[in-house]
Amino acid sequence: MQEIRKDLVEMLSEKMDRIEQDINVHVEGLVWAKPITYWDYIQTDLLLNLQVQRTTLPDEMIFIMYHQVNELLFKMALWEAEQITAKKQDSAVYFIEKINRMSRYFDVLSSSFTIMSNGMQYEQYMKFRNTLTPASGFQSAQYRIIEFTSTDITNLADARFRSKINNQTPTEEAYEHLYWHAAGKDHVTGKKSTLIKLFEERYKAEFLRIIDANRGTNIWARYQELPEAERNNAELIAAMRHYDRTVNIHWVMAHFHAAAAYLDKGPKEVEGTGGSDWKKYMHPKYQRRIFFPGLWSKEELDNWGTDV
Ligand code: HEM
Repeated sequence: MQEIRKDLVEMLSEKMDRIEQDINVHVEGLVWAKPITYWDYIQTDLLLNLQVQRTTLPDEMIFIMYHQVNELLFKMALWEAEQITAKKQDSAVYFIEKINRMSRYFDVLSSSFTIMSNGMQYEQYMKFRNTLTPASGFQSAQYRIIEFTSTDITNLADARFRSKINNQTPTEEAYEHLYWHAAGKDHVTGKKSTLIKLFEERYKAEFLRIIDANRGTNIWARYQELPEAERNNAELIAAMRHYDRTVNIHWVMAHFHAAAAYLDKGPKEVEGTGGSDWKKYMHPKYQRRIFFPGLWSKEELDNWGTDV
């Protein structure tokens, strides 16, 4: 018969006292507990039942699953981001580790985008996309939250109106000038497309709250609060630049090429399922979304997204 280690019994007993629980009840619970299995722990049954097609075309399954892979990796990136933003940081080491994790996730997403551009039959995509209209990956809330968590709202403003927005601009006004409204808002009439209307009905209130919560606490702000010596750490600066580039140029361009593989291939140009003028809208040289502008030279900023 095995013996229980005394130090473990003491630790457990102290914990049970602390949370006012009876140790004997908990130990007896262990006697009847089911052994843990991989499938229960990872919830594979639940996970593998989340792929529901709207058409009979087999390649739609690839489209659904790859989007889900993206959302999971977005969640992994946010998990790290929220640990950086949660409190004032004083060391470059912690920052570097977290930023590198986030970059790694986006590197995986950028390099795997050929699953979309080369991995589905053009004819099938052009059919099943009709059943998705007017939905679009544009409506990924996590993607937007990664942006709000990464930088100041001013850096996410439409480049044409950026000079009108500063850190004192009321949240809702700044929100209305976000770069992504260009995909679905007529700037003369101000009329919003169905794509954005539905997105806002579901998420706008949450976005406003998240923007507020990240004022002065987003990754760029937390970086700027670091002590000067930490802020000047060459490894940290390289990590931050890599993250900015992988999210705002590499992923964006991989996505752009995937869109072009379908929307630009046929006899006439096709608009996105969300209805945007995608060629103009999606290119980083027009969006000029830069999380950490202070870490790039003037020349690099001027040429943002033009060397890819
Ligand atoms: C064949 C595959 C894809 C095509 C053709 C495509 C096309 C487009 C287009 C045209 C837009 C602009 C909005 C619109 O008019 O719909 C867009 C936006 C977007 N898509 Fe995709 N997409 C594809 C795959 C993906 C995947 C796998 C994701 C991952 C979640 C994704 C996420 C996004 C995001 C986040 C936006 C907004 C980007 C921004 O505002 O700059 N897309 N997509």
